[in-house]
Amino acid sequence: MKIVVIGGTGLIGSQVIELVRANGHEAVPAAPSTGVDTLTGEGLEQVLKGADVVVDVSNSPSFEADAALDFFTRSARNLFAAEREAGVRHHVGLSIVGVDRVPDYGYYLAKVAQEDAVRTSGVPYSLVRATQFFEFVGPVMDMSTQGTEVRLPSLRLRPIASSEVAAAVAEAAQGEPTNGIRNIAGPEIHGLDRLGELTLAARPDGRTVVTDETASLFAGMPDVLTGDGAVDVSAVRYEDWLKQH
Ligand SMILES: NC(=O)c1ccc[n+]([C@@H]2O[C@H](COP(=O)([O-])OP(=O)(O)OC[C@H]3O[C@@H](n4cnc5c(N)ncnc54)[C@H](OP(=O)(O)O)[C@@H]3O)[C@@H](O)[C@H]2O)c1
Repeated sequence: MKIVVIGGTGLIGSQVIELVRANGHEAVPAAPSTGVDTLTGEGLEQVLKGADVVVDVSNSPSFEADAALDFFTRSARNLFAAEREAGVRHHVGLSIVGVDRVPDYGYYLAKVAQEDAVRTSGVPYSLVRATQFFEFVGPVMDMSTQGTEVRLPSLRLRPIASSEVAAAVAEAAQGEPTNGIRNIAGPEIHGLDRLGELTLAARPDGRTVVTDETASLFAGMPDVLTGDGAVDVSAVRYEDWLKQH
């Protein structure tokens, strides 16, 4: 099969490319750095020629509400017009566990709009919703650092290794469209503050975690991001992953 991976140069996309190539598929990364821009439509017609499956694991360069909404809605419009034209038979999208239960966070609203565009596109689809990636914890901590304090709320998360997300996305891409959602999550639930402590225990750098419910990207978010048990649980624990990365 020819599988085009929009965002195929990113964290998830580059791993999806490797996984499906290992199974003998033709996998083509599509991103601005390879001449394909979903915001403008540039390069889409060309790259989708002969494509059986499109995987969209692109991300907005900005997490700001309006910019993210513009990115995901405009990209979806251009992408699905091109997919319908090319006769793509399966679209695989990647979203976030619990995303539709967080009404006040702009980036999540943008992801909900992206999911809606997938559902109404007319192209058979499979959606994977994942929890927060292990790789995301460090950057969230850096954004929440003041001096030697990392200020984080105790919101419960159930993070997952990006390799396991990529495996689920690759599996979806090689299967049939479900026209539904598969939720995936890591094996353990921790407060975000506890994830910060585990990170600094494995990689001490002079910072300490201070619990602050008003701090970080996750400030004030409802406790809905773990999937409430309605998730497929993956194997890798955060502390074990920290030892290997
Ligand atoms: N972070 C999390 O914890 C988490 C959890 C659940 C779901 N997700 C979702 O996972 C997805 C992938 O995340 P990621 O961390 O793998 O992203 P990433 O590493 O930031 O990669 C983003 C990719 O999107 C591409 N891209 C940016 N602008 C584009 C455009 N205009 N047209 C086409 N491609 C464009 C980038 O291309 P260049 O390399 O050329 O810039 C890159 O390949 C996102 O949709 C995110 O919402 C994330």
